[in-house]
Amino acid sequence: MPSLQNYAIRCENLHQVLGTNENQVHVLNDISLQLNVGKIYSVMGPSGCGKSTLLYLFGLLDRPTHGRIWIGDQETTDLDDVDLSYLRNLEIGFVFQFHFLLREFTALENIKVPMRQAGLMTGEEMNDRAAELLGLVGLGDKIYRRADQLSGGEQQRVAIARSLANHPKLILADEPTGNLDIKNSFLVFDMLETLARETGLTLLIVTHNAQLAKASDYTLMMEDGRILPDGGVPSL
Ligand SMILES: Nc1ncnc2c1ncn2[C@@H]1O[C@H](COP(=O)(O)OP(=O)(O)OP(=O)(O)O)[C@@H](O)[C@H]1O
Ligand SMILES: [Mg+2]
Repeated sequence: MPSLQNYAIRCENLHQVLGTNENQVHVLNDISLQLNVGKIYSVMGPSGCGKSTLLYLFGLLDRPTHGRIWIGDQETTDLDDVDLSYLRNLEIGFVFQFHFLLREFTALENIKVPMRQAGLMTGEEMNDRAAELLGLVGLGDKIYRRADQLSGGEQQRVAIARSLANHPKLILADEPTGNLDIKNSFLVFDMLETLARETGLTLLIVTHNAQLAKASDYTLMMEDGRILPDGGVPSL
């Protein structure tokens, strides 16, 4: 049996049915996938095909109707909500289209939020780590700037730094550049890619931009809740 250690995440026969009664939608239909450690995957597909739903499941923010998910070699099916949150906090970082920063908090404070939730660091350690991460995304001179006094691109870079707060092994990014102009889209994407390559983490990034997707190692094409059979091919 192959070692599961080489996979950052994998799933088997994932189905997700959302809505109730006559409004039920079979959003994900029998998805089986393995994401290798240290690789960058882009997910592309038309609006409504289930990309965000898949990221929600991979991020342990929702449970599948059917199927199994492993984070590393940890199967998640039978974990209770407390264990799921614990695993999520330590192993997974999120970057969303809308960054969800706390507007009135400084960049530094925003990055400390997930660290506080994990509760593993002292105040000083949190400050040092948050400042280091802001340096990594090129915002070392703006650590005390309030989030709402940063540009859209800078805010998204703070969100990237925040996603790295607890040394996750996997970053899930749902259209992280969807709200930015072309110049900032490339900047933010490059930054995510560089950080992933340098730290060896696995990145799964949803994008509608085929040019950005080319920078990933593999492109997964989705349609109607399925990964297309030729999905997962190396990006050109
Ligand atoms: N709570 C819900 N109840 C019923 N249907 C839902 C629910 N949430 C999502 N859906 C449906 O599931 C489908 C997939 O939604 P999802 O958000 O995953 O799409 P997406 O691929 O991320 O699209 P986009 O590119 O527009 O972000 C859509 O048809 C959506 O209407
Ligand atoms: Mg979406």
